[in-house]
Order: sequence, then C-alpha cells, then structure tokens
Amino acid sequence: MDIHSSGKALGASIEGMDLAQPIPDSDFKQILRALGEHGVLCFPKQRLETEQFARFGRRFGELEINVANQFHEPGFPEVMVLSNMTENGKPIGLGDAGQGWHTDMSYSKEIALANVLYAIKVPARDGRPLGDTQFRNMHAAYEDLPDEIKRRLEGRTATHDFAKFWDMMRARPGSRRAALTAEQRAKKPPVSQPIFRTHPITGRTVLYCNPGYATRIDGMPEAESAELLEYLFKHQQQRKYFYAHAWAEGDVLMWDNIGTVHNAVADYLPDEPRYMRRVQVMATKDYARLAA
Ligand code: SIN
Repeated sequence: MDIHSSGKALGASIEGMDLAQPIPDSDFKQILRALGEHGVLCFPKQRLETEQFARFGRRFGELEINVANQFHEPGFPEVMVLSNMTENGKPIGLGDAGQGWHTDMSYSKEIALANVLYAIKVPARDGRPLGDTQFRNMHAAYEDLPDEIKRRLEGRTATHDFAKFWDMMRARPGSRRAALTAEQRAKKPPVSQPIFRTHPITGRTVLYCNPGYATRIDGMPEAESAELLEYLFKHQQQRKYFYAHAWAEGDVLMWDNIGTVHNAVADYLPDEPRYMRRVQVMATKDYARLAA
C-alpha cells in the first residue's frame, strides 16, 4: 500500500488497497499506525458490497448499533445510511447526520475508535464536490494548550450528553428528527469522560471535549465550567488544526474518533443527492499492542 500524507493538519490517502478483500495482519498494522499519525485516511476508488464494508470496519473493533437509528442497510443494523434522498416522499437515510462539530460516541461509556464512511453518491455543482467532511486535530490542540489551562483541567472530567446534539439538530428549521423517546434517552444517559485522555494508538494525550456533546465540567461551579468549555471550544477552532475532505464516489474515509472532532458541511440542496454508508468502530481492542 502507498500512504500519501496530505501535508496538512490531518489526512492521508492510501492507494493500492482493495477493501473488498480481507486485510492481512501486516496491512492492518500499517493502517492502524497511519490512523494514529494522520487521523483521517481516504481509500479511494473502492467498490464494496455492504457486507464487505462492514467486515472492513469490524476488523478494527465491534460495530455500534445506534439507538436512534431507523436508517440502516437492510439486514445490516450496524451499517447506517446517511442521506438526503427520499423514496415515495419518505427519507431513506438520516439527512442531517453530523452537521455541527462533534465527536461520535463521546456520549457513550464505551467510546469509538473510528468512523468509516463509504461514499455512494456525492453531490456536486459546477464540477466541484459538495458536502465535505471537516476535521480538527485534537492531538495538536492539546499540545498547544497553555500550561495554566492544562493544570486546571488535569484529571477533570466533563459530562457528555447524546441528547444535546440530537436536540440541537431537531431545533433546526425543517428537521425531520423525532423527539427522543424516554426509552432512547434511558439507553443513552449522560456520561463523564476525561477531558484529557491518552490516545490508544499514539500513546499521546488528546483534548477529548467537543461542542456537540460536552455539556459541563464535572464538580466545578457552573460559571467556571461554562467559561472553560467556551475556551476549549474556541481554542480547538483554530485554522491550524483544520482539514477538510472533499469526497469522490467510491471513497472510503476512516477517521480517528478520539484524536479529532468533525463536522459535515450542509452546502448541498435536497435535489443534490448524497448517500453514504457509515459504521462506527468501538474502541474494543488493545490498539497499542496491535500497532506495535
Ligand atoms: C458523521 O458525523 O458521522 C457524518 C459525516 C458526514 O456525513 O460527512
């Protein structure tokens, strides 16, 4: 395989791999290391059946089944459909997934290692692809934090709540999201996460606190918590941490869900179809050992 770094804050393209084939151990190790190093990996020009796509994701850890997910590929509850397309006037996928800066699964006690998306349909206008996915590098964001902030937050946790992002999306004009049922809320109660955590592949510290789900810093007066969260969210917005992936059909994009935050850009219209398959890989393995 050939790994080409983007030369930017994140991102690399991996050529010469057919993800429809089982991944040998040596390639698996290289991909894992590249994920730690580059954060966002693109495997272009793939042609995958749903089962092959799911198998690729499963190689890295157990796949999540989303509690609020009515949109998945038939027979594959773990393969979610992200799409603005409709059939007989009814949506066939979650249309607004990820439209706001967040880290998937930070609201869950068991966090996710990675997200993997497979682009089936990419909207385009005037020859330019739309619906980029944007990222920010949380290894670098942690490293740059002033010592005083690192000291104040060392050993602290923040509460992350699934409902925060869901309700934010629901409040947008035209949202088709239903209110979470009591049962769905009960399945995803708020959880506490360390604000600084050791990345399981790189062994380095990352800033693990995203505006999509983090609601407050635990055990701190409300005003101080709000001030520090605002500081962290602003800090991580800096341009030097930014990377955007412009999609092409056939791309499989895998990103580190511990060392990055991401945002799906909604710059396309309802009649400009976008169709992605997604799996979320839970951090269920000993990645330090596997990458060694
Ligand atoms: C996500 O947040 O997982 C979706 C990203 C995208 O659709 O670009």
